[in-house]
Amino acid sequence: MTPRSFLLSPELADYVRASSDPVDDVMADLIRETAEMAARGEASATMQIAPEQGVLMRLLTTALGARRAIEIGTFTGFSALCIARGLPEDGSLLCLDRSEEWTAVARRYWERAGVAGRIELRIGDALTTLRGLPRAETFDLAFVDADKTGYAAYVEELHPRMSRNGVVLLDNTLRGGQVLEPRDESDRALAELNTALARDPRWETALLPLADGLTLLRKR
Ligand SMILES: C[S@@+](CC[C@H](N)C(=O)[O-])C[C@H]1O[C@@H](n2cnc3c(N)ncnc32)[C@H](O)[C@@H]1O
Repeated sequence: MTPRSFLLSPELADYVRASSDPVDDVMADLIRETAEMAARGEASATMQIAPEQGVLMRLLTTALGARRAIEIGTFTGFSALCIARGLPEDGSLLCLDRSEEWTAVARRYWERAGVAGRIELRIGDALTTLRGLPRAETFDLAFVDADKTGYAAYVEELHPRMSRNGVVLLDNTLRGGQVLEPRDESDRALAELNTALARDPRWETALLPLADGLTLLRKR
């Protein structure tokens, strides 16, 4: 199953995709291979961002003129591929993930897409790696898509490391609608974070009802 907006009917989701830039062969093959891994029980295909979200993230990366980006939660590399493609030739993307197995798939596709030279992957606990980075204004764009209970800490650690007007993207901020009626720790963590961010003067905040919810934070 390809992930899509839970807010749209399958027909409208198809229409949204058909009305946006198409995915190319590399992206399509990565979506297919991830789905095959899911069918074998080696991963969950719904962990991958929706294709239309990837197209938007590539567009945003380019439109923001981002040169240095960071991703927290890389999996098989689809979102990183989209960000990396939006970067200039000499841009860089730092990817944090704890899975050697899933990111081995990512590395193959980054090579094939010709963006591997722009991407550095660090394996380990993302919060530990992030805390080890200099507290300097380094990144123009960040994408957070790892453990949901860690988001609040990721946002705190990212703040000093983002450039002024830098943008942080948070994935799954609607949790399939369960932010209204949290069922588990992850739902609760996102519901609390959404409330806190809407009142946080350090960020300009917009939650887009795209895919599973994508929050944009601009550092003021
Ligand atoms: C939802 S998937 C990311 C999907 C990816 N952005 C994509 O579009 O394909 C979440 C990823 O976060 C990683 N992850 C979860 N918790 C983590 C942590 N504490 N430290 C590092 N990686 C973590 C998992 O290994 C997994 O690959």
